[in-house]
Amino acid sequence: MVNMFILFLMIASACAVGWPDESYSLPKPKSGCPTGWAMGFRNQDNEDTHNINSVTPPDPDHHFDGYFGRNTIMCYCTKTTYSGYGSWPSGNYCIARYGGSCPLGFTCNGSIYWDDEDDSNANSKWGVLPDGEYGRNTKIYYCCRSDRSAYSYIDLPAREPFYLYKYTSTCQRVRGMNVTEESVKMDDEDSMNNSSDDGCHPKKTDTTVVHYCYYS
Ligand SMILES: *[C@@H]1O[C@H](CO)[C@@H](O)[C@H](O)[C@H]1NC(C)=O
Ligand SMILES: *[C@@H]1O[C@H](CO)[C@@H](O)[C@H](O)[C@H]1NC(C)=O
Ligand SMILES: *[C@@H]1O[C@H](CO)[C@@H](O)[C@H](O)[C@H]1NC(C)=O
Ligand SMILES: *[C@@H]1O[C@H](CO)[C@@H](O)[C@H](O)[C@H]1NC(C)=O
Repeated sequence: MVNMFILFLMIASACAVGWPDESYSLPKPKSGCPTGWAMGFRNQDNEDTHNINSVTPPDPDHHFDGYFGRNTIMCYCTKTTYSGYGSWPSGNYCIARYGGSCPLGFTCNGSIYWDDEDDSNANSKWGVLPDGEYGRNTKIYYCCRSDRSAYSYIDLPAREPFYLYKYTSTCQRVRGMNVTEESVKMDDEDSMNNSSDDGCHPKKTDTTVVHYCYYS
């Protein structure tokens, strides 16, 4: 009887894994956003001359919802409501900030700034996006943490694919999901390029390659 009760509790708690409390944004996979989240996209006008944009793995094998040619459209899923299922688990990963502050447990924040094309800049945006600056150039704010090994499994909803951002280690492991790394390289303005980053932000190599973790 007692064992049955414990089993029941275990099943109940496994089913209760939902998206954590507070608001935040994540890159949108082709499979879509979690139910009830808001959508949006950012279109960045990348360098016109000898453009060297790339996405890894290349079209159509990556899982980002967007467009990756000479310019870059990245779509986002944003949880705009406060209530959820507890706080984010300890680990080594970043999320995108939304609503002016980082969720509980993300002790380090920062940003990435992309110096987008200057000539006839055609940057645009639609819908709900992470906290940032979306004019002729692009700045996005992030919340990061490294309070546990990325190799320790964390619980997040394992029902449908999602992205997290890679931080200072390997991709964070998530129970019940396979993870693969994907990346996006944007060719920023060549002339007087002032692309930069500040504080804690997702893993960047070069000045412009951002690393993501895809869970399915
Ligand atoms: C970002 O981190 C700094 C330094 O720890 C802190 O003062 C600031 O309140 C944080 N900002 C947000 C939005 O969490
Ligand atoms: C993860 O990938 C392996 C091999 O590709 C596959 O056998 C397994 O079913 C996958 N697991 C999940 C949870 O998708
Ligand atoms: C300008 O951007 C390119 C990528 O588009 C990068 O490789 C280069 O290092 C950047 N220059 C500076 C000074 O940040
Ligand atoms: C980069 O330079 C442009 C103009 O060349 C300016 O508008 C922008 O504020 C600068 N960004 C930073 C982060 O210095």
